[in-house]
Amino acid sequence: MRVQIIGFGVIGQGLAEVLLRKREELKQRYSLEVKVVSITDISGTAYAEEGLDLEKALSVARQTRAIVNYPGAKEMTGIEAIEEIDADLVIEATPSNIKTGEPGLSHMLAGFKAGKHVVTSNKGPLALKYKELVTEAARNNVEFRFEASVGGAMPVINLARETLSGDKITAIEGILNGTTNYILSRMTREGLSFEQVLKEAQELGYAETDPTYDIEGIDTASKLVILANAIMGIDATFSDVKTRGITRITPEAIRLAKERGYVIKLIGEVRNNHLEVSPRLIPETHPLNVDGALNVAMLHCDVAGEITVVGKGAGAIETQSAILSDIIAIWKKRGAGQ
Ligand code: HSE
Repeated sequence: MRVQIIGFGVIGQGLAEVLLRKREELKQRYSLEVKVVSITDISGTAYAEEGLDLEKALSVARQTRAIVNYPGAKEMTGIEAIEEIDADLVIEATPSNIKTGEPGLSHMLAGFKAGKHVVTSNKGPLALKYKELVTEAARNNVEFRFEASVGGAMPVINLARETLSGDKITAIEGILNGTTNYILSRMTREGLSFEQVLKEAQELGYAETDPTYDIEGIDTASKLVILANAIMGIDATFSDVKTRGITRITPEAIRLAKERGYVIKLIGEVRNNHLEVSPRLIPETHPLNVDGALNVAMLHCDVAGEITVVGKGAGAIETQSAILSDIIAIWKKRGAGQ
């Protein structure tokens, strides 16, 4: 399978690393050979018809922060790479932008137009233009999968749509942002200040490029919109979410809650067509009380009852579990060149 990676930051590099690690396993288990034919970042595009040397690409990106330093790379943009290079699948892994959805939105649409399947971790375009994106993918008869856009390694979209396909999901509630959960958990356990812990979350690679997306609840709201659309068929967009973040949560408020057997968590909920993100008091013993950078989603199903899934919501390597599962699903359904 010929793959293009657009965006070579935390997620793009994590994918290259996991593809290197799992090359033999993918061949043996699925007869899948992933050939990364191009990698694009803001500096340009590295390209090789026979597949790039991923170790070299990683070392170039890590040492120089510019893929254009890969031997033979060109100052070619993501759109040009998608339009001009022969490939089956585009991995869109540029930073999420909730104001315009760009550059991810244009990359995805260009991918569909070029007849390429798209797998993405990028929430912004989905939170703004979900309907347009799925319609365009269908119109061009290509696959479009985005498990990694919500909850990193926590499998929720494919779980609901595939495994729970006989259920109607009536409500979803959960913790959908690792950075804020990490911050609140550390503040609860160690009484640390907000600023101290945010810095650590950034260093660990959990936080968004612009961390206000995390702490203001914007990231959670984007993910909630994706879940509402993808799982519950609600035609919602980002502006439909009532959003409040955690910037005003003090160590004092956390301490008082703790004394009464509660924790404060940033919860996203979709119920009765209403989408809301807000800090809430959760009993310590409740299944939504998960620690650290973990994410959790509770699906209220009409047949199964409550299904709760917990997993690592962020991280360069962990997120690849979702990306790989989408690549493999497309490979199983379509094979190469279809
Ligand atoms: N900044 C996000 C988080 C990354 O902290 O959960 C994963 O979407």
